[in-house]
Amino acid sequence: MVRKILCPSIMCADFGNFRSEITEMDAAGVDQYHMDIMDGEFVPNFALSWADFAAVRKMTTKPLDVHLMVKDPSVHLPYAFKHGADIIYVHYESGNAANYLYEIKANGRKAGLAINPETRLEEVQTLFPLIDTLLVMRVHPGFAGQVAIPDVEEKLSVLTDSPKRHFTIRLDGCVSPDVISKWAARGVEEFVCGTASEMFGIKRGMRSYKEIVESLR
Ligand code: DX5
Ligand code: ZN
Repeated sequence: MVRKILCPSIMCADFGNFRSEITEMDAAGVDQYHMDIMDGEFVPNFALSWADFAAVRKMTTKPLDVHLMVKDPSVHLPYAFKHGADIIYVHYESGNAANYLYEIKANGRKAGLAINPETRLEEVQTLFPLIDTLLVMRVHPGFAGQVAIPDVEEKLSVLTDSPKRHFTIRLDGCVSPDVISKWAARGVEEFVCGTASEMFGIKRGMRSYKEIVESLR
């Protein structure tokens, strides 16, 4: 089995203790941070701001991804470049994804495509040659703490059964410890750890990030 890439979802962190959250997660050995940017239009919510992103960038040397849940990625891509995003996900459903993926690569970043639960692989496969990573949403984007949409399992099976895949798969939304075990065994490389992973929220209990990261590994 490949080493799991564990990516805490920073919108779920404790904003009252932001610096110690990042320091403790860094020391616990998380791999990358997942940064959700929303515009209140593509999804009916807001998450992190670019100021939050810039603050985290100064606190860690670990890779930061950006999950752009926005109507117009062209507004946000310059901020992602300026603030040092390592991996940038644009949603297929935002439109013009090919153009954005080219722009991301031209700026020397890893290009990621995010797909909603209802989006079929047949719709997006012509974009696969342009991507480094595919973010498969298990919930409708916009909110933490949702229940997974069962149909996504079939899509994931098709992807993991595919003999030649040059991009990594990252799961986002309702990624529980069981989901991580199941899909890591089937070749999924990367996992966004929000409340479902028990890294954040009430299921975390009194455990430290170190204990949680060790149990997820
Ligand atoms: C939701 C975000 C996720 C979210 C996942 O749209 O993209 O990153 O934080 O959190 P849980 O594990 O609660 O689904
Ligand atoms: Zn996300």
